[in-house]
Formats: sequence, C-alpha cells, structure tokens
Amino acid sequence: MLSKTDNERLTQVSAGTPMGDLLRQYWLPMLLSEELPERDGPPLRVKMLGENLITFRDTSGKVGLIANNCPHRGASLFFGRNEEDGLRCVYHGWKFDTSGACVDMPNEPAESNFKAKVHLTAYQCRERNGVVWAYMGPEENPPELPALEWNMVPQDQVYITKRLGQCNWVQSLEGGIDTSHSGFLHRPLAKAGMDSSLSVVQRDRAPRFEVMETDYGVLVGARRSYDETRYSWGISQFLMPFYSMIPGGLVWSPAIGGHAWVPMDDETTMTWTVSWHPDRPFTEEEYQRMHVWPNYDIHVGRVGGFLPATSEAGGAWKTVLNKQNDYMIDYDLQRDYRFLGVPNIGLQDQCVQESMGPIYDRTKEHLGSADSAIIRVRHLWLRAAQALREQGLAPVGSQSPESYRVRSSGILQEKDSKESWIEVSKDLRAAKAR
Ligand code: FES
Ligand SMILES: [Fe+2]
Repeated sequence: MLSKTDNERLTQVSAGTPMGDLLRQYWLPMLLSEELPERDGPPLRVKMLGENLITFRDTSGKVGLIANNCPHRGASLFFGRNEEDGLRCVYHGWKFDTSGACVDMPNEPAESNFKAKVHLTAYQCRERNGVVWAYMGPEENPPELPALEWNMVPQDQVYITKRLGQCNWVQSLEGGIDTSHSGFLHRPLAKAGMDSSLSVVQRDRAPRFEVMETDYGVLVGARRSYDETRYSWGISQFLMPFYSMIPGGLVWSPAIGGHAWVPMDDETTMTWTVSWHPDRPFTEEEYQRMHVWPNYDIHVGRVGGFLPATSEAGGAWKTVLNKQNDYMIDYDLQRDYRFLGVPNIGLQDQCVQESMGPIYDRTKEHLGSADSAIIRVRHLWLRAAQALREQGLAPVGSQSPESYRVRSSGILQEKDSKESWIEVSKDLRAAKAR
C-alpha cells in the first residue's frame, strides 16, 4: 500500500514532478528506426513523458525530436515541410533544424536578426541497431546509451513489437516484475494441448522471492520446488528506470525476453516487447512462435494484431483486442483452454493492467510476500527521485551505461545447497553481446 502522495509521486511523469524529473535523467527508447524510414519523409507525432512532440528524419538522415507547436504562433509542425535539413512550418515558413535553431524566417525583413532569438524545444536523439533513443533531460552531453543486450545485437537477432497501453506506466511495469502471476494469468488449461505439469511455474504457484538492489536496478529470484531434491530459481531483472527481463532467460527459453514500459503520459504507456538471441539470427519458425496461438506468445502479431494505423501519437500500435471491446474475451476459451480467455500473453497482461483503471489507487491495495519485487522497486524509485530533487544525485544506472549488460536467467539447485543463487547464477546473468 502507498500513501496518496507517494502514489501521485510515482505515477506522474510531466516535467517538474519527482518521477518526471527522474525519468528525464535517462535515454528513452522512442521509435523503431523503421517508423521513420525516409530522409525528408513525413514527420510523425510522438508523445513522451506528457509532451506532445514531432519527430522527423532530415536530409542527412539525422532524427530530430521537437515540440509540436511552432514558437511563432503555434501551428503544429506535424504538417511541416521536411526539406533541406530542417522542418518548415507551413503557416509562415519558419524553419527549424534538429537542434531547434530557427534557420529561416522568410516573413521577416532580410536584415532582421529575430530568428537568432527564437528557439524551439528540441531533444537529442541517437540511433542504434534499429532503435531511436531520445534524451529529454538537462545535460548537454548526456552519457552513452544504456548497453542493453537487446539493443547491442544485430537487428536479425532481435524481434521488437510495441503496443499502446491505456493506463499508467507503473501498473504496467509492476506486471512485468511480478512473476507470480504467470502461474495463473498465463496458465494453459487441459484442452490447450500443453502439459502444465511440465512447467515448474505451473506446478509450484507460490514461489518464495528474494530481491537485491544492484548498480542498475533490482535482481529478483523466485524459488520454486522443482522436484524432491531440487529448487528452481527463476531469475528476473528490473533495470532503471522502466525495463524488465523475463525469468529463465536463455537457459529455459529459446530467446531472452523483456520489456520497456515507456510513459507517453500519466494514463498511456508504450510497451515495448523484445526477444533476442545473443549469438545468432532468429529462424522464420522462431518469429512465428513469438505471436501465434497456441505457443507462448508474448508479442502481439504484427500482421492482424493491430488496428489500421492512425496519425496520432502511437497510432500504429493500437491492438485489435483492446479495452474498448473487452479484448474480445472468449469464455469458451477461458473454460477449457486458458486461465483468461484472451489468446495472447501480451494482451492478457494488457487486459489486467488496464482493468485496474487509468491510474490505480494504491491506497487500496494489499501487498503480500509475492509482491516483494514491487515493494523494492517502488522504494528505489521514490528514494532516487528524492535524492535527485534534494541533493542533485544522479539516479542508479543513469551515468553507468555499462551496468546494463545483464540478462535474466534460471538455475536448478539442490535443496540442501548452502550456495547463494546469486553467486551460482553470476555468469549466466552476464550479457555477452558487444
Ligand atoms: S505559426 Fe509557424 S511560422 Fe507562423
Ligand atoms: Fe505476464
């Protein structure tokens, strides 16, 4: 349970709020490079941390991220002409480059230097392996991009989908670090043709959790009884400010899975789902398995899973099964096949997360021992936000991109072993991709 004040602190993302300022200390994944395919192509609307923004790829290929409204009299730069290394407002022709400088002001006398006094809000962007990152913080020279393995591998070794969530980012992310829900929400039932008894997550549905703070976030171990003599440890990762990695990693799955829960505003989240293989490209069959029922489908299918794209921010990533149609829940499926009658793991998550309301009122919750990762992460966020505000201290991970070189994992351990799961899993948790 949280106080009303802490709940507000945690969930608000605009500039000037504690978490809004904290989030602005980090690089944020903004777009897939393929969403801005052409130089001088059409600009796109994006929304990040409550700000309405426009992004475009200029003549030289550089990505710009600027305020929506022209600083002259406010026309939207979404309609701008993307030409000759800048975006020109269609109202009176003022033109801006990716740094936000006004480089042309054709409706003022030639001798005027008014354009030197006008500056448009602009944020730095960097591109790596198919992802465009944005930095909305105060540093002129921000640190390197975080060395997350899924963005260090070549593009044929990673598969990324996004989906637009209609709720606050914190309750979305908390679903990503609460792994005890997998034995319920994602459970296949008798007719699904999957033998639940083969999965330890389905056999032992009351895991014991151990959590530890690290130099990038929080390491989470979930211990389940595997058989008479052994425990299994499902090891997941939370990385500041909003990344999670699914337990098991490459040890239990053909690919490592994870999420980035990126706040668009207080009530909307762009959820990134990533699967990656550190050593080799995915096969066609593996791509299919990521989103085709009845496999373990954490991705929403790119074909058929999304509504026709609109020009709104995030408008290409609205799922066909969504809050407005109750995710087309199928009670026949729910009776015999799946614990929740929604045929996709990602959408099952989205369903419960959005069902809590746009911003869940955490004064009403009752946390148990299975929620220990959530409790620790909330402490970390609130402490880091306070230390930033009161002492100007950079939050965990924001200045140490190399600390992100980790993976989730899984191990089996003898029940009478005296060794710590943390020590035993050390090598398995280290990312190798450079
Ligand atoms: S409003 Fe953009 S140039 Fe006038
Ligand atoms: Fe889930």
